[in-house]
Amino acid sequence: MDRIRILGGVPLEGSIPIGGAKNAALPLMAASLLTSETLTLSNLPHLADISTMANLLAQHGVMLGLNGVDAQQGGFAGRVMDFRAEKIASTEAPYDLVRRMRASVLVLGPLVAREGVAKVSLPGGCAIGTRPVDLHLMALEQMGAEIELKEGYIYAKAPKGLKGARVAFPMVSVGATENTLMAASLADGETVIVNAAREPEVSDLAQCLVAMGAEIEGIGTGTLRIKGKPSLHGAQHAVVADRIETGSFAVAAAITRGRIELIGARRDTLEAVEKVLINAGVVLEDGPKGLIVSARENDLVGVDIMTEPYPGFPTDMQAQFMALMATVKGASMITETIFENRFMHVPELARMGAKVNVHGSSAIVRGSSNLSGAQVMATDLRASVSLVLAGLAAKGETTISRVYHLDRGYERLEEKLAGCGARIERLKE
Ligand code: UD1
Repeated sequence: MDRIRILGGVPLEGSIPIGGAKNAALPLMAASLLTSETLTLSNLPHLADISTMANLLAQHGVMLGLNGVDAQQGGFAGRVMDFRAEKIASTEAPYDLVRRMRASVLVLGPLVAREGVAKVSLPGGCAIGTRPVDLHLMALEQMGAEIELKEGYIYAKAPKGLKGARVAFPMVSVGATENTLMAASLADGETVIVNAAREPEVSDLAQCLVAMGAEIEGIGTGTLRIKGKPSLHGAQHAVVADRIETGSFAVAAAITRGRIELIGARRDTLEAVEKVLINAGVVLEDGPKGLIVSARENDLVGVDIMTEPYPGFPTDMQAQFMALMATVKGASMITETIFENRFMHVPELARMGAKVNVHGSSAIVRGSSNLSGAQVMATDLRASVSLVLAGLAAKGETTISRVYHLDRGYERLEEKLAGCGARIERLKE
């Protein structure tokens, strides 16, 4: 298993291109199942999770092919891919593929909507919590699907097709909103999603569905109205810039007290993160090509955060922000409200000298300037990147094992950081 070695203590200076959002790309790819025509997606990041979704779609019968690359952005280019689901060859999503990535469950809505039947493995738990899919199933049932759970699989059928319905979610779920949006686009009649997730990735999907012929009102709000169509058509769509990659590299600039321009960052999707960084003393400016993030040694202070659904502070930025707070003056209280077990990075950060006490869903971080390099282990995607960030700031050498987690969501992480002066390398094993 590969490891990453970092010699910390270098203030990062330079620019980093931001790729397309993994969490937008995955549902967009699943949306290709909704039409027999070609869906062309550009600005796709090159990541392990994208390959997993491509493999899953291929076994459903989607023909996919690389169709070039986008214009270069600072030496990096997004990919352009065609997805054509002329015929659905199989309506089954097997355990072996689904267990590798929870987002595989996003094929459920499109398959039932188009074929009237689907068998999708239950994703099971993951490192950050139990993460059920009950809300995905509730929505499909309200749209007339019959659902049975047996032998670890979701069996869904709607032989006469799905019907528009009022779907009121008791809590905000990104994935359940996306599955419902896709299913509703091919349902008979109008669907209203109440308490819909407002994440930019949901809006990106909705905009793509509109380009494919769906009628959707309320994009970006908590109430989505979808008029279903008998069929959708092909379209072209560019994946929105990754706000979590942007935030992670913003923290890289801040934690090393450096200055990085984030090329192609979408500031309109970053409000809560920007506000917190500014309150902590980080400087954010518009640069010629993107967002410039900088920080000076003694200027940073502790700030409290609470993770919330968008437009609140994202849970996917919590671990990175904790690493930053471990290096500033004063204390910070970090409260996680989305996932029940998302402090897996705490013991690892503690090995590097971070002072963190966890009480239930809150963590108190007492900042100090004394992080030191250590051997640590990645546990999930965002936890892993928080260890990289801590390693960039720490004195001495940090090695991070199990970096396959990072490859699921960060494209060419070492190259991008090394381009700003970081002493970072991958040790192949
Ligand atoms: C998505 C993101 C993930 C991010 C999360 C929250 C993708 C591929 N992943 O995950 O990176 O951390 O949003 O912003 O986009 N829940 C239920 N029942 C359900 C569905 C969810 O109880 O049927 C709960 C979950 O356990 C969790 C909360 O709802 O506590 C939010 O989860 P959700 O928004 O669904 O996250 P994902 O879509 O899985």
